[in-house]
Amino acid sequence: MAKDRTRYVCQACGAVFPKWQGRCDGCGEWNTLSEEAVETPRGPGPAARAGGGRRVEFVGLQGEAPPPARIPTELAELDRVLGGGIVPASAVLVGGDPGIGKSTILLQAAARIATAGRRTLYISGEEAVEQVRLRARRLGLETAPLALAAATALRDIVASLEQEREAALVIIDSIQTLWLDALDSAPGTVAQVRTCAAELIRLAKSRGFALVLVGHVTKEGTLAGPRVLEHMVDATLYFEGDRGHQFRILRAVKNRFGATDEIGVFEMTERGLVEVLNPSALFLAERRGNVAGSAVFAGIEGTRPVLVEVQALLAPSAGGSPRRQVVGWDSGRLAMLMAVLEARCGMTLGMNDVYLNIAGGLRIAEPAADLAVAAALVSAATDRPTDPGMVYFGEVGLSGEIRQVSQAEARLREAQKLGFTAATLPRRLARGGRAPAALDGLRPTEIGHIADLVAPFAARAERRAGRAEAAKPGAAKAEAVEAGPAG
Ligand code: TYD
Ligand code: MG
Repeated sequence: MAKDRTRYVCQACGAVFPKWQGRCDGCGEWNTLSEEAVETPRGPGPAARAGGGRRVEFVGLQGEAPPPARIPTELAELDRVLGGGIVPASAVLVGGDPGIGKSTILLQAAARIATAGRRTLYISGEEAVEQVRLRARRLGLETAPLALAAATALRDIVASLEQEREAALVIIDSIQTLWLDALDSAPGTVAQVRTCAAELIRLAKSRGFALVLVGHVTKEGTLAGPRVLEHMVDATLYFEGDRGHQFRILRAVKNRFGATDEIGVFEMTERGLVEVLNPSALFLAERRGNVAGSAVFAGIEGTRPVLVEVQALLAPSAGGSPRRQVVGWDSGRLAMLMAVLEARCGMTLGMNDVYLNIAGGLRIAEPAADLAVAAALVSAATDRPTDPGMVYFGEVGLSGEIRQVSQAEARLREAQKLGFTAATLPRRLARGGRAPAALDGLRPTEIGHIADLVAPFAARAERRAGRAEAAKPGAAKAEAVEAGPAG
């Protein structure tokens, strides 16, 4: 029984394998398995568990369920993502790429909470006290009554926290730097990260302080990723965005005390992260009208409507298999849409390299974006700009039908607020469907099939296709629909 002293643990998802393999069967990631020693269980054995337990009280479903109290962070966008503030005695995981701004936003929030009179502890395992002080000075927060420490030994941290009477919030930056000497594995392995997190969460629940754990997203599989902790915490927030962009998006992917998929939008400035209260205006700020290949999507992120620009560029492929470059959207979905445009509208897109970009660094998961992506593609293919005052939303089905999406009114209202004058949206169902309330100054165009979207561009498209066919005889016919998801 005691033969297997090591096992292989996926550092991305925590799946365990007896033998090494290149790809994790659990999450599909490559090269994420690393060898770990099998931990011998400590604590009560099966015999102790068999007796001596106390009887558990069972109660009915009715009873008091007051909404949880909240600690407001005073950063409106962070509070929005958390569902109104941090819940005492809860555990929040903040994940994201290194350098994205996790330490910055948490220091900002911690300083404000401390200034509001709640005891707040910031334990840095990554940076020395001086570095954190330097950042605080840069952010103009050095006078906040924050309790700061640099520590990585879980034993010391737990001992210190056990003596804390008043602590309202404890921040651990990052969980991957902590280690417990009782474990043989190195800091940052799945075993260490899980054990340390479990111990801190247990302490947070028993002592009543809110716990925030920072977890770096790692690509190489050398450190355990935040995903191995997602099931242990009450809320998981991911910081997204491109370090080259100044926008940062904080997204709730799990929240026991609020809505998931809620986003907070920030801008990284010289003086830290600044909240962006009107993201639509920001995402559209650099849009230039009258450029082919651009369409505005009226989306919903969490509970908030957000307008973003979808950009498409088609370029004749240099040969070989055409490139598909997608930023901020699903490449499989792009392949599907192109196939629908080719099969249902007779367009020929397949021989082109296709670049698709969601401007501003937002990542969109809603199928409602199909129509805007299709509009951008058709516009690029026909070299004809979309109406600059038009927003698009609707899901596209495989037969080319346009499907209803949720919250049409909220989308239209946001478009109206930002001065848009027209919207292309799914046709109301004959029965049961409710018309979105008519909005002043916003002209709706309801369509039932993708061909209705293409029609206004069609004359130009045909001429172009004709030219392409004349230039390359047989090329359009030989071109197969791009079906496989491309990177
Ligand atoms: P940081 O919070 O250290 O990232 P993480 O903890 O997620 O690894 O953010 C580091 C980046 O943010 C760094 O590239 C510098 C930049 N930054 C600013 O642009 N302005 C600021 O005021 C601060 C504090 C950092
Ligand atoms: Mg950091």
